[in-house]
Amino acid sequence: MKLFDLTGKVAIVTGGNGGIGLGMAKGLAAAGARVVLAGRNEEKARRAVSELGGAGVFVAADVTSQTACRALVDEAVRQFGRLDILVNNAGTSIRKRPEAFTEAEWHSVMDTNLTSAFLCAQAAFQPMKQAGGGKIINIGSMMSLFGAPYATPYAASKGGIVQMTRALATAWAADNIQVNAVLPGWIDTELTQNARRQVDGLHDRVLHRTPAGRWGVADDMAGAAVFLASAASDFVTGAAIPVDGGFSIAG
Ligand SMILES: NC(=O)c1ccc[n+]([C@@H]2O[C@H](COP(=O)([O-])OP(=O)(O)OC[C@H]3O[C@@H](n4cnc5c(N)ncnc54)[C@H](OP(=O)(O)O)[C@@H]3O)[C@@H](O)[C@H]2O)c1
Repeated sequence: MKLFDLTGKVAIVTGGNGGIGLGMAKGLAAAGARVVLAGRNEEKARRAVSELGGAGVFVAADVTSQTACRALVDEAVRQFGRLDILVNNAGTSIRKRPEAFTEAEWHSVMDTNLTSAFLCAQAAFQPMKQAGGGKIINIGSMMSLFGAPYATPYAASKGGIVQMTRALATAWAADNIQVNAVLPGWIDTELTQNARRQVDGLHDRVLHRTPAGRWGVADDMAGAAVFLASAASDFVTGAAIPVDGGFSIAG
């Protein structure tokens, strides 16, 4: 058995049309998987699919909807005959002090970051079980561990990702489905370019605290994705693995 080989495997990466999702999708494709990129922005998706060099297709899906998550999984199985790997990466943030959030803003962040991951995992369960097992990788954050005054719903959703990961891992271990979370540190993407515009001094604070001495790039996320998607992690479940250049362990 080749520990990190994904030949013949089929993956869905939500939000795989850019940023961290695309970094992970490229890693999965390089290890041999065929990858369904799910998202809303078709223009971005066209560029992303071309970066996967024939290993990827795009399926338009708003993953806050249960119907859309089910349709996404059905479409992956229709096109490729199976589903082995689900990366729940779609995410967003609205940055404000807690007292300024509207109810709709709260729900929009929670639905995009947390509910979507639950709905896609639920949709993926049957095809994974039928295939004899599967891998679910949920994307948390440093805000799964820490708080920030501008990130109440984001931190709540990312803390929830870790606990949901543990609950799903216990539920589906007997079906040979491993469920793990990756907690990215500060990675240079559209999301954090906005954060740097909105939060004074963020860029330098991150640099100062990160032992690796740099911001991450999307490609830094590929290795953890391949590990958690492959046989190399068959006895790893319910874990939350930081990929953060040491940010979370720096004093
Ligand atoms: N960058 C970081 O430093 C960092 C750190 C920790 C955690 N994260 C997490 O990593 C994940 C990816 O973030 P990123 O930094 O790569 O940001 P990004 O470039 O903004 O990517 C977010 C992706 O999510 C998709 N998305 C958002 N809402 C969606 C919806 N309703 N349905 C389907 N797709 C949706 C977007 O696709 P469309 O444009 O097509 O909607 C986009 O491709 C997020 O969960 C984020 O919280 C990022």
